Amino acid sequence: MYYEPGKTDHGLPYNPLKGCVVPRPIGWITSMNKAGLVNLAPFSFFNLLSYDPPYVCFSAGGNVKDHDPKDTVVNIEETGEFVYNLATWAQRDVMTKTSQIVERGVDEMAAAGIEPLPSKLVKPPRVGGSPVQFECLYHQTVVLAGNRPSSFHRVVFGRVIAVHIDDDVIINGKVDVLKMRPISRLGYKDYTSIESIFQMEMASPEEALTPRRVAAE
Ligand SMILES: Cc1cc2nc3c(=O)[nH]c(=O)nc-3n(C[C@H](O)[C@H](O)[C@H](O)COP(=O)(O)O)c2cc1C
Repeated sequence: MYYEPGKTDHGLPYNPLKGCVVPRPIGWITSMNKAGLVNLAPFSFFNLLSYDPPYVCFSAGGNVKDHDPKDTVVNIEETGEFVYNLATWAQRDVMTKTSQIVERGVDEMAAAGIEPLPSKLVKPPRVGGSPVQFECLYHQTVVLAGNRPSSFHRVVFGRVIAVHIDDDVIINGKVDVLKMRPISRLGYKDYTSIESIFQMEMASPEEALTPRRVAAE
C-alpha cells in the first residue's frame, strides 16, 4: 500500500502510522508548575538524542478539549525543569492511569499512588519504583504545525544533568535491561516489553560494504 499523509487516504480502518515506528520508548515525565503542584504523564514520542552532553526530547499534542498545550509542556516552559522516568512492566497499569486528564490542582503522582522520590538538582520528584530517572533542564520547544488545530505538536528538548540508576539493575557493571523489563509503545492499543535481547559486533573493515578509501600518501 502507499499513501501521502495529509493528502491521500490510507484506506485502512485505523491509522497505521504509529505501528510503523516501533517500539517507541515511553518517556514518563514528571514536571511541576510554579506553585509546586506535581504533574506526571507518559509520552511515547520520546527519545534520547545525544550523550555528551545527553539531550532528550518528547513531542506533545494539544489537549483534546481545547487544543491548548498540555500541562507537562506548560509546566516545563514555566519552570525550566523536568524528570524522565523509565516505565516498566511492573508499573504498566499505574503508568496508564497517569495519562488520564485530571482537574487542575490535583497532584497526579499522589492520585496514582506513586511514591515521589526527591531529585537532587531539580524540583520535580522522581517516580518511586522506576529503575532509571534523568533530571533535565529545559532547552527549547519546537512547534510542529498541524494540518488541523488538533494536530499541532510541541517538541520539548531537555538537557540531562543527573542520572539515577537503581543499583539492583546494574549487573556485572552493565544496566540489565531484562531485569528492568521496560515497556514500549507500538501502534493501536498495543505495547511490548523487553523480554529478550541479542548482541552483535560492529561490522569489521573486511565486511564493509564498500572498500575503505586509502588515505593519500
Ligand atoms: C503510553 C502512552 C503514551 C503517550 N504518548 C503521548 C505522546 O507521545 N504525546 C502526547 O501528546 N500524548 C501522549 N499520551 C497522552 C498523554 O499522556 C496525556 O494526554 C496526558 O494526559 C498528558 O498529561 P498533561 O496534560 O498533564 O501534560 C500518551 C499516553 C500513553 C498512555
